[in-house]
Amino acid sequence: MDSTFKIGGDLQVNRLGYGAMRLTGQPGNFGRYSDWEGGQKLLRRAVELGINFIDTAEAYGPGFNEEIIASALHPYPQGVVVATKGGINKPAANDIRADGSPENLRRGCEASLQRLKVEQIDLYQFHRPDPKVPFTDSIGMLAALKKEGKIRHVGLSNVTIEQIETARKIVPIASVQNRFSIIERDGENILDYCTKNNIAFIPYGSLGAHPLKQGSPLANAEGFLAEIAQHHGVKPNQIALAWLLQRANNIILIPGTTTISHLEENIAATAIKLTNDEFEALNQMK
Ligand SMILES: NC(=O)c1ccc[n+]([C@@H]2O[C@H](COP(=O)([O-])OP(=O)(O)OC[C@H]3O[C@@H](n4cnc5c(N)ncnc54)[C@H](OP(=O)(O)O)[C@@H]3O)[C@@H](O)[C@H]2O)c1
Repeated sequence: MDSTFKIGGDLQVNRLGYGAMRLTGQPGNFGRYSDWEGGQKLLRRAVELGINFIDTAEAYGPGFNEEIIASALHPYPQGVVVATKGGINKPAANDIRADGSPENLRRGCEASLQRLKVEQIDLYQFHRPDPKVPFTDSIGMLAALKKEGKIRHVGLSNVTIEQIETARKIVPIASVQNRFSIIERDGENILDYCTKNNIAFIPYGSLGAHPLKQGSPLANAEGFLAEIAQHHGVKPNQIALAWLLQRANNIILIPGTTTISHLEENIAATAIKLTNDEFEALNQMK
């Protein structure tokens, strides 16, 4: 099992990253994070412990999540990759609007550049295809932003294989971020497609959490997952992460947390080695 993956063939990152979305106002990941200093500390601790891939989006906050990352980490230590997303506007906690128009993608990218305090975004992900806008128009704008140097690599999120293939005809696609975990395996064929094509696959909800709910349902999982965890002297959610890491070398994890102790637990999952029998049994678990 590889411990790193090269996104787009050049950005080498450790395969256990961090999803920063929850460092925002609650409920709804809306507004400024209430414990700003605590959030900054957590981000710095993540980097100190070797995390060098951080996932965010304009929609988280909106804007505030990128701001806390920049406030904690800028100037970014060598090798730290910050991936953001555009194409979703969020005027209120419960009002999430896809807007994949070229104008909105350009506006969002330029705003993210400013908030992240960078001249180029390492990985800019199209948050979600917008049914009101031709998909090729959205991707065309991402290709233009890449050509202008504002984006290093283009990624997609919440997409089908057909959409990935359409996009790849317009611009190289470095990553795909879809919902996927040991307990939610819809779209496993998309993971396999990415593996075959050397595209990073970044599962969100890797601990089974819903974006608008607190807590991981896997933390207290019972049954087979709990048995394996007990055998390794770890927690079931750590086995869920270890399974993903072992499932394919192009998977980069972004478990989200607001506590340093959970962050440390999630990082510790990289040291778990499932036996072939355990891995096979977990594959069948569904
Ligand atoms: N592309 C998209 O459409 C999309 C959608 C949603 C999310 N995302 C990305 O995916 C990332 C992760 O998503 P997510 O946060 O919704 O789901 P997740 O990673 O499955 O789970 C996070 C939840 O699990 C808890 N948790 C984390 N580590 C734990 C541990 N060791 N023990 C017990 N509980 C633990 C956290 O609570 P504590 O704070 O208490 O640890 C948090 O409530 C986000 O940050 C975001 O970057 C992308």
